[in-house]
Amino acid sequence: MSRLVVVSNRVAAVKQSRPGSEGGLAVAVRAALRERGGIWFGWSGKVLDSDYGQPTLTEAGKITYATVDLTQRDYDEYYVGFSNSTLWPLFHYRLDLAEFAQRTWGGYQRVNALFAHRLQPLLRDSDTVWIHDYHFMLLAENLRSANCRQKIGFFLHIPWPALEVLLALPMHRQIVKALCAFDLLGFQTEDDLFCFHDYIRREAGGEVGADGIVKAFGRSLRAQAFPIGVDTEVFAKMAAESEGSKQVTRLDESLGKRDLIIGVDRLDYSKGLIKRVEAFEHLLTAYPDNRGKVVFLQINPPSRSDVADYVDIRRELEATAGHVNGTFAEYDWVPIRYLNKSFSRRVLAGFFRAARVGLVTPLRDGMNLVAKEFVAAQSAKDPGVLVLSRFAGAARELDGALIVNPYDVEGVAERLQEALNMPLAARQERWHSMYKAIAVNDVTAWREAFLTALQQATPPR
Ligand code: UDP
Ligand code: G6P
Repeated sequence: MSRLVVVSNRVAAVKQSRPGSEGGLAVAVRAALRERGGIWFGWSGKVLDSDYGQPTLTEAGKITYATVDLTQRDYDEYYVGFSNSTLWPLFHYRLDLAEFAQRTWGGYQRVNALFAHRLQPLLRDSDTVWIHDYHFMLLAENLRSANCRQKIGFFLHIPWPALEVLLALPMHRQIVKALCAFDLLGFQTEDDLFCFHDYIRREAGGEVGADGIVKAFGRSLRAQAFPIGVDTEVFAKMAAESEGSKQVTRLDESLGKRDLIIGVDRLDYSKGLIKRVEAFEHLLTAYPDNRGKVVFLQINPPSRSDVADYVDIRRELEATAGHVNGTFAEYDWVPIRYLNKSFSRRVLAGFFRAARVGLVTPLRDGMNLVAKEFVAAQSAKDPGVLVLSRFAGAARELDGALIVNPYDVEGVAERLQEALNMPLAARQERWHSMYKAIAVNDVTAWREAFLTALQQATPPR
């Protein structure tokens, strides 16, 4: 089996402090690297005032962690700028927030070229290279220009937008052309794949074969959907073990007999947080029996706080949640517990299990792993109900969820009321079908499916 080289903007810590402290993707990628030996290459997370340092190499068993620092200019233009102020909003259908500037596009091109330049000397001819996410869509093209002939695959963790949305990106053609330098493109859902095909056929004048082979820009490659999963069994075990843990006991005691609705997301405008709070407010208004009896715990670790839109969404969310609490709170009950901090996945697993409802209502999301983790964490005896946005990739697989339109505040409130009052047998039936799906399609199956397809892809000669 060839050596594996993984590239992602964020590289997991060399040492995982304890099981459950990091996400399923990191666990799965690390397991593959341990098995085959290889390199995990990406940004160190450090921003330097002046010039680049050399990549820092840290060996841990069969894995080499190779990280590169960014200059302040690259951080501003590549990470804050093009990645998170252009691509992220546009690919999440927020044309109103997407900024287009030659300066940040230049920074994105420069950092992709720099990463290729730094990676190339570390590669062996027989390596398999797996590149992750929207930060590095130009990497294969840069590596090919440097005569790299390895098999190179790409997985996009976020949605691929509809043609009409993508066309608003001035450099759409350069980006899709660069993507065609990969041997395999992986998307989260069939819908994303459909939108990519649509671009290839209608905009690039290319072809899509029945065998999944795409021909465009003089290149031939495979494109396929690989819905990412979670570490289902491990997460379920952590959730079961957490019953009686210090944090879950404190949560239980604080709730008394009240039902818990839980939401967990990075504080991001794509997650539909304002509409979600409004839907909860509507639940209290339209179904007043819930007052004093339901608590909504919303966990939102701050994210990308150097991007102005993230500062704005935080302020808006604080005001909206504060308004609801101001309207409904009593001296012995506060309806929304809004937390601006992160928890380990182990603690989250316990909180999910303690909840009656998981509320996951992004306006657009590539997959949404929290939805799958919520299902993994439930007890078979008394499972909670998942209320899930139709615009999350996970909605394609989690057919036992109550599927909602997150823009429809009253509709979400109705489904919340249904979830809070759902009889045990119905909850069990819905949960069983979802658990079955995520147990089969877990993160290991995802990783193996992608790497097998990449193995079968034909690299350019
Ligand atoms: N997460 C975490 N601690 C937190 C909040 C989130 O470990 O306080 C994890 C969560 O368990 C999940 C991931 O972060 O594994 C979020 O993935 P998701 O696909 O839901 O959203 P993303 O942040 O990638 O947009
Ligand atoms: C999403 C993206 C990842 C990214 C993560 C955290 O999951 O798909 O690529 O790493 O958000 O965002 P950050 O900007 O902090 O890396």
